[in-house]
Amino acid sequence: MKSFTLSVAAAAVSLFTLTACSTSQTKEVTGHKSVPDFWPEIQSPINDQQEVEKKVTALLAQMTIEQKVAQIIQPEIRDVTVEDMRRYGFGSYLNGGGSFPGANKHATPKEWIALAEAMYQASVDDSLDGSNIPTMWGTDAVHGHNNVIGATLFPHNIGLGAMRDPALVEKIATATAREVRATGIDWIFAPTVAVVRDDRWGRTYESYSEDPAIVGDYARAIVTGLQGDISDGNIDDQHVISTVKHFVGDGGTNKGDDQGDNLASEKELFDIHAQGYVHGLNAGSQSVMASFNSWHGEKIHGSKYLLTDVLKDKMGFDGFVVGDWNGHGQIPGCSNDNCPQALLAGLDVYMAPTPTWKPLFENLVAQVQSGEIPMARLDDAVSRVLRVKIRVGLFDLPSPANRSLSGDTSVIGAKAHRDIAREAVRKSLVMLKNNQQILPLKPAARVLVAGDAAHNIGQQSGGWTITWQGTGNQNSDFPGATSIYSGIEQTVRAAGGSVELSENGQYTTQPDVAIVVFGETPYAEGNGDIANVEYQRGAKQDLALLKSLKAQGIPVVSVFITGRPLWITPELNASDAFVVAWLPGSEGGGVADVLFSKADGTVNYPMHGKLSFSWPADPYQNPVNKGDGKQPLFPYGYGLAYGDTTSVGMLDETVNSQLNSAGDVLLFQQSVQQPWSLVATSNGSQKSMNSNTLSVNTLNIRTADRLVQEDTLQIDFGNAGDSIRFFSPFPEDLLDFGSAGSALAFDFQQQSPSDISVTMECGEGCKAKLKLNDFITGNADWQKVVIPMSCLVEQGLNLREIYVPLAMTSGAPTTFRISDIRLTHTDAELTCPAH
Ligand code: BGC
Ligand code: BGC
Repeated sequence: MKSFTLSVAAAAVSLFTLTACSTSQTKEVTGHKSVPDFWPEIQSPINDQQEVEKKVTALLAQMTIEQKVAQIIQPEIRDVTVEDMRRYGFGSYLNGGGSFPGANKHATPKEWIALAEAMYQASVDDSLDGSNIPTMWGTDAVHGHNNVIGATLFPHNIGLGAMRDPALVEKIATATAREVRATGIDWIFAPTVAVVRDDRWGRTYESYSEDPAIVGDYARAIVTGLQGDISDGNIDDQHVISTVKHFVGDGGTNKGDDQGDNLASEKELFDIHAQGYVHGLNAGSQSVMASFNSWHGEKIHGSKYLLTDVLKDKMGFDGFVVGDWNGHGQIPGCSNDNCPQALLAGLDVYMAPTPTWKPLFENLVAQVQSGEIPMARLDDAVSRVLRVKIRVGLFDLPSPANRSLSGDTSVIGAKAHRDIAREAVRKSLVMLKNNQQILPLKPAARVLVAGDAAHNIGQQSGGWTITWQGTGNQNSDFPGATSIYSGIEQTVRAAGGSVELSENGQYTTQPDVAIVVFGETPYAEGNGDIANVEYQRGAKQDLALLKSLKAQGIPVVSVFITGRPLWITPELNASDAFVVAWLPGSEGGGVADVLFSKADGTVNYPMHGKLSFSWPADPYQNPVNKGDGKQPLFPYGYGLAYGDTTSVGMLDETVNSQLNSAGDVLLFQQSVQQPWSLVATSNGSQKSMNSNTLSVNTLNIRTADRLVQEDTLQIDFGNAGDSIRFFSPFPEDLLDFGSAGSALAFDFQQQSPSDISVTMECGEGCKAKLKLNDFITGNADWQKVVIPMSCLVEQGLNLREIYVPLAMTSGAPTTFRISDIRLTHTDAELTCPAH
């Protein structure tokens, strides 16, 4: 899946960069909220800081406003040039997921270093900006240096959580730091310390556990591994700056919505979601990334309480807070190019990955000049950036190309690192079922390897792998890596057995056993959110494969590739043994190490992993977490070992749709609802609504009052072809609305006869269209319009991937009012208009 950009003929505006519509007013925060004592003071591991502080003060004293503002803006390599760096002297820059030097996916380590060197030299060149402060480069090395071809890819965090092995996690971090340093990069946007509570979230695999205790332990280990011993205040050139992210509550949003709202109490926010910060900052992490999510409706990027009062003032964090990808633009009243609010709230570095960094820079300079932003706040932000630069040795180290690990290409994907990764793969496997102790298998056997994930290194590595979403990769993009199949092949052949690889399970020789490797295909933020946790909802091809093998009398071992616990009860029933491999990364060989015994049948490597997440008993059983009183299928901590004689009987496959509390999907209710934005198009121009009026050429929208304030949109289509659409940059899973009785419903009042078409869209060239007139009566009263989803689905609409749940396009000028727009379920008998 790709993020899908709507474009119209004349203006191909990327809507991804538009902020969501919000017609609600910004709440005035009045009064001072005192910070509860449970937020602790950080126990900094750094001993003496006096020299550093002297240096910071001296540097700051010489800087102009422009030079200071440049330190707090972080552009992205696709939208910033070396010449921009020379001209502005940015404090830092980044490459996003799937962003490479020269836009070349196959850029070599030398090319990565060349860019680092050029950016650095431009930053210390003071000919244009008068500044010679070295810049630093930040990257998402979230499971190894995952944007670089040939790097070691470690299991994603969810797999590491199953190991319960902080010491190994520290080694992984050390190895990652070395590979990153070998490409001239100083800073990593990891670890993610989200404590994920609702596995419908597409970033669940970036989380070690639903249990804050594991996340806390690991945060300490990872930060220590990434930064090294920081007690003397120095990060050496074998290590990198780490970032604990995303502060705070990203794993606890309502329904697991990406960038959603966390409704935890403050105590829960601390006890559950903040533990990674407590431990990561006690280990000395020098930066914190602000989260896209909100807490009780307030975007964290704009939360002075959390960023300043809690994190800095109460906890005493003295590093810097970096924003997330234009996250500042989502604060009410802000846009990507203008947002003093974020700095005022306590953000120190704006992640400004689009060309909007330029007006953002200009606006910030003007806002400091006018006094809207106090100089003291700017100075504080800049001091934090400089402090970290001093600690990481930027003023003392040679340039990126000349540092100790730079250019040593043997560091990238080094054997020693791959060995660590393979050990992690072995330790992360969790065995859910092993009837008749079929595992471990004797290697001298005839083995059939089936399933589309068996020989697919991209799939076994998941999102954030070379590309942002992890899609579009070939095995050849992973030099030095092994697929799960190759590991099996090597093991079995070495023992004198035979292996046949066949995705669809067809074989030439009747096998002794089939190992079927299947599971989720890669996704990352946004794209990975699902409405419920049923595996292969509506299309159970893998179940069919398992059943057909079993029907032929072949014992079946399932190896499940997944970024989260999913409801796989039917697949479990169709397997003799079932092992969850999570997203193991580049060292697929670790799976065979454990699945196969030594030649004499004794255990080669133990089956070690234990669930760090509760496993759901039902597609709709979410959230489900340790200690919440629910009965998961397999509890937190479950995992069979070799030698256990537990047999898992046939499990009940009945789905309890009563548990489906997903409810209605709201599009507009007093304001446009997340994740949608409202986009208006007229005569080739389009705009996204983010206040209570919007005009585009002949199209005018304003909010109006009906039952309560601003609960209605008044839409004036001045011309044929004018349209409005509710749009999500990521596909939304609306399969729940595929059943009889599901409908798109809204209240509607027409002020003049209308000729409006209603469409729903599921990506490029995928849409269904109806005439609104078929569903309304011709009078001017308010009426409830109920459009059966079946009328759209019968046109081939793919409900699994909806980008536009409602678009309305005029056939002639008209004015109407609309309110309470939702997808809903009714008991009524719904029929489609005859054609
Ligand atoms: C993600 C962060 C990431 C950043 C830079 C954001 O969208 O939420 O985790 O570090 O992009 O790629
Ligand atoms: C970019 C990625 C980036 C991500 C962060 C995407 O639009 O292509 O590079 O990491 O946004 O959200």
